[in-house]
Amino acid sequence: MIDQFGRRVEYLRISVTDKCNLRCVYCMPMEGLPWLKRQELLTYEEIARIVRVMAGIGLRRVRITGGEPLVRRDLPDLVRQIAWVPEIEDLSLSTNAVLLADLADELRSAGVQRLNVSLDSLRPDRVDEIARRPGSYPKIMEGLAAAEEAGFSPIKINVVLIRGRNDDEIEEFAEITRERPWHVRFIEMMPTGANLELSAEQFVSCTEALRRIERIEALEPVAGPFGNGPARYHRFPGAPGTIGVITPMSHNYCDRCNRMRLTADGQLRPCLFGALQTNLRDPLRAGEDLVPLIAETLRVKPERHYLIQGSAAGSGGLVALSQTGG
Ligand code: 5AD
Ligand code: SF4
Repeated sequence: MIDQFGRRVEYLRISVTDKCNLRCVYCMPMEGLPWLKRQELLTYEEIARIVRVMAGIGLRRVRITGGEPLVRRDLPDLVRQIAWVPEIEDLSLSTNAVLLADLADELRSAGVQRLNVSLDSLRPDRVDEIARRPGSYPKIMEGLAAAEEAGFSPIKINVVLIRGRNDDEIEEFAEITRERPWHVRFIEMMPTGANLELSAEQFVSCTEALRRIERIEALEPVAGPFGNGPARYHRFPGAPGTIGVITPMSHNYCDRCNRMRLTADGQLRPCLFGALQTNLRDPLRAGEDLVPLIAETLRVKPERHYLIQGSAAGSGGLVALSQTGG
């Protein structure tokens, strides 16, 4: 699968649910969103079928996302079905880790190779304020510990930067990489319909984050862990972990884009943002051939996104990243 700008697309992010057990301030409104109905969701069998079709034309890597993927029942069943597809070389999962403690072992033996965990603060009270579901912090820490024990490596930690909420922890997050083999990735907040004010007023660039970290000690650029997409990595000399930056706002990386997205209701999206999507679910249920639809989606993959700070214009009607799997 190569698009009209010469980008090889071999990576699919699959959202298995639009629901979440947290309410992160930059993502989901407190009252939630109008959830998809059960019959609108792809079944695990349907998801696996789409993966097999795409694997036949070049798909090699899959990430399972949400919403929060672990709130969907029996997720290891889906993992097993995808892991069985011989062409899929890499299967990873993004989670907020709240439900991970009980699932880490099973997910690993089912075939998840790598984990990304969202963790926006190292302080319990702040995690409560950002994720707006009190009591999450200890569960997240248990989840992370279980993931390490289950042998997941590398573990990537995603930190969305928010002025006045966690920007004073940038240095602390960076220091963790000297102690643990974690890959701490700072992410610039992207504007969506639900966070316009926040993303305009409390935006922090990764340029600022790196500048602050370099005041502690000069960083050296490194290639980073396997599976790196948009992130650029650095490290303190000799540190076991790395510091990554994901800069959708300050430095767009669309020229390196290698992915498409499948929403929980079976829309194939060539770009995170913008209104373009192809309904694969209904044709799949009607027994139609999906290959031409996938090829057409690839053909219209836009050259780049057009996000504008403080504006919903570039996000193509997207209310929250939880709707497309981030
Ligand atoms: N901007 C930047 N990152 C976001 N995420 C969710 N919403 C946004 C946003 N508006 C992050 C989550 C998670 C990853 C999948 O995307 O924190 O780490
Ligand atoms: Fe849930 Fe992730 Fe959105 Fe937070 S960012 S509300 S964990 S989907």
